[in-house]
Amino acid sequence: MYNLTDKQIVLGVTGSIAAYKAPDLASKLTQAGAAVDVVMTESATRFVAPITFQGVTGRRAYHDMWDEASEIAELHVVLARRADLMVIAPATATTIARLAHGLAEDLVSLTALATQAPLLVAPAMDPHMWEHAATQANVATLRSRGVSFVGPEEGRLASGQMGTGRMSEVPVLLGAVRNALGRGGNLTGKKIVVSAGGTREAIDPVRFVGNESSGKMGFAVAEAARDRGAEVVLVSGQTALPDPYGVDVHRVRSATQMRDAVLAACDGAHALIMAAAVADFQPAEPVGEKIKRKGRESLTLHLAPTPDILAEVGRPQGLVKVGFAAESQDLVANAKAKIESKGLDLIVANDITASDAGFSVDTNRVLVIDSKGEQEEWPLMTKYEVAWRILDKVQRLFEA
Ligand code: CTP
Repeated sequence: MYNLTDKQIVLGVTGSIAAYKAPDLASKLTQAGAAVDVVMTESATRFVAPITFQGVTGRRAYHDMWDEASEIAELHVVLARRADLMVIAPATATTIARLAHGLAEDLVSLTALATQAPLLVAPAMDPHMWEHAATQANVATLRSRGVSFVGPEEGRLASGQMGTGRMSEVPVLLGAVRNALGRGGNLTGKKIVVSAGGTREAIDPVRFVGNESSGKMGFAVAEAARDRGAEVVLVSGQTALPDPYGVDVHRVRSATQMRDAVLAACDGAHALIMAAAVADFQPAEPVGEKIKRKGRESLTLHLAPTPDILAEVGRPQGLVKVGFAAESQDLVANAKAKIESKGLDLIVANDITASDAGFSVDTNRVLVIDSKGEQEEWPLMTKYEVAWRILDKVQRLFEA
């Protein structure tokens, strides 16, 4: 159902100190439903033991090309054939050179040469090795053959130096894996605009009218759409969440900025999914200077309505529109009224008084209503699962 479930992933681990992060990646991939076969270079085994991978994947980790005790005769061929994706994390400069030149000198480069699955490479090395003309030429060769790279990133390296060469962190690698497996998914060719997070309406340079939205639901929709092959534009208001890998993220502050960004993004889009908690009112006259307490008995704020983004978007080229409704009373009636007033195909309503659904938590329990008034009550599930099921419905609307 989800794009890692039952996927066969070969994780190649090579000899960099960043190998200490690889068991965590293997564990997260396994927890997400993938079957992970780990192959290692001999140098990688100096940094982390094969048994560590075996512990988190429940499968044997291999490092010896000449392993006579292996239960699989042609190990590299078997692993390579059944792989849906091969990830090499960390990938050293040497491994990248071997890949570029088609050398099969260890179990990692051998399996990479034998597989026809997409290859995702996460380099980790000293900045000078990364910048070296030889490495850059090898990377360019691999990119021209369709190999994807994630990182390396800038920051502090194990040597204490600063520079570009750090392997991307596990959450980023997971996003890159999902993105790679999503290619060719059932939303391929579709452009989907998602909004997330709360808006902040300025009162003065330091104060604002805001709300409790964490952005988690909208980010989950953006990720799930990416994982099914869509081109995703995420217009995000206030949130602490990092940019999802492979998603075009536009950060905005106010409802007006969100309106402008959403309208621009909807050009050529097939669907708009508005999970953002847009402020309904903004200070009518924001003050340029910080409002002083001194000399005031009280302070009255005059608020003016913000643009209703969903209503304003209209239906360019038959755009499919999904709204969210966070309600504390009369859930169904209020949600149905919003389908009408905002011209929606679907509304996803949740009762914000429930503690396991709504703002900040990772789970949600929603009621989905379509434009014909048909309702479905979904049980408590993760926001990613809710997102996936909303996209099932959006996909059916595309087909209709
Ligand atoms: N929305 C929008 N523009 C606004 C306010 C809300 O596009 N200015 C979108 C939200 O992103 C959401 C849907 O409209 O998808 C419903 O938002 P909600 O806050 O529940 O509805 P309101 O229109 O604000 O109505 P009310 O405050 O009366 O419940």
